[in-house]
Amino acid sequence: TTPLKVAVLGCGTVGTEVVRLLTDSADDLRARIGRPLELIGIAVRRAGRERPGIDPALLTTDAEKLVSSGADLVIEVIGGIEPARNLILTALKNGASVVTANKALLAQDGSTLFAAAEEAGVDLYFEAAVAGAIPIIRPLRESLVGDEITAVIGIVNGTTNFILDKMDTSGAGFAETLTEAQDLGYAEPDPTADIEGFDAAAKAAILSSLAFHTRVTSADVYREGITDVTSTDIASAKAMGCVVKAVAICQLTGPDANGERAVSVRTHPAMIPRHHPLASVGGAYNAVFVESKSAGRLMFYGPGAGGPPTASAVLGDVVTVARNRLRGAAGPGESSYAARPISSIDTVITRY
Ligand code: NDP
Ligand code: HSE
Repeated sequence: TTPLKVAVLGCGTVGTEVVRLLTDSADDLRARIGRPLELIGIAVRRAGRERPGIDPALLTTDAEKLVSSGADLVIEVIGGIEPARNLILTALKNGASVVTANKALLAQDGSTLFAAAEEAGVDLYFEAAVAGAIPIIRPLRESLVGDEITAVIGIVNGTTNFILDKMDTSGAGFAETLTEAQDLGYAEPDPTADIEGFDAAAKAAILSSLAFHTRVTSADVYREGITDVTSTDIASAKAMGCVVKAVAICQLTGPDANGERAVSVRTHPAMIPRHHPLASVGGAYNAVFVESKSAGRLMFYGPGAGGPPTASAVLGDVVTVARNRLRGAAGPGESSYAARPISSIDTVITRY
């Protein structure tokens, strides 16, 4: 049987686990897909870096060449805007299906990528981009697409939840806890993205775009990080029966003055009463509440960051897009977005 050729871009925290699963679970994946996957290369930046468990013969520093080497499926886990954006566009133009965990890119310029995937008639899947292992993209994009979602609220950044949780439960300091989160593979390559709220804002943009069938970019999201949260704030919250959590809040609002729909999307620290389910989300776990007109309230909860949980979500996408490819079909694409443009995005915030 002809294998499906897979190229992996990036071999850091997430990429290493993705490669490990592709290798260790090759037989299971073959059985689930109905075809073997053949790993044709792994693009990295530093050729000389020690990479235990990775076949050195597969490594290349020429990512551009790798994406043009006849891959059926490209997995992008480099992160950031460039060169990830151009590599994904090249892959899509070459007819490869793409799986990415890159929320920063999707939230900034997802429309260009989705248009390219639509044009090529291939998949662009991104379950790992929001909330690590938690299935939340597919529920919004598929399972709940027939319902009307009115709000998506949750903890979507594992690093900041880990830090705030440690500060609350053990009185640990901010800097030492951030270092621990980095060592555990939770933080972004530049942890400013986590602690200043950029990562949560990107995720909120993706979630609200899917939930409200419109297009929200990271620039539209009101953002506050956790760098101004002090141990005194945490102690005061405790005295009031609350815990400080960094939350993302996406709400369908309006109708506005013209009778049109509007959305409000924001991320910032908030005081959560200790009896609220979000208060018990500890460590690098995430939780996302979805409210919709017919289904009511749903809660999604689980590991939100780290190599193995994120690789689980990536591999789920790999199997799905491989199956789609073999059927000659593509999953939900650009049409999932912008079906009902909204009139305004409210960035004037009232604290939750
Ligand atoms: P890392 O920094 O650990 O890994 C990045 C990888 O990309 C490294 O292997 C690096 O190579 C490689 N790379 C960087 N620049 C280039 C380039 N120009 N050409 C080729 N390879 C390059 O990041 P993570 O694995 O943590 O994150 C990857 C993606 O996954 C990001 O989009 C992130 O937001 C997302 N993500 C991460 C999660 C996590 O918990 N860590 C969770 C969910 C999503 P080298 O090894 O040589 O430095
Ligand atoms: N840095 C991110 C976090 C990784 O801490 O949530 C998961 O997206």
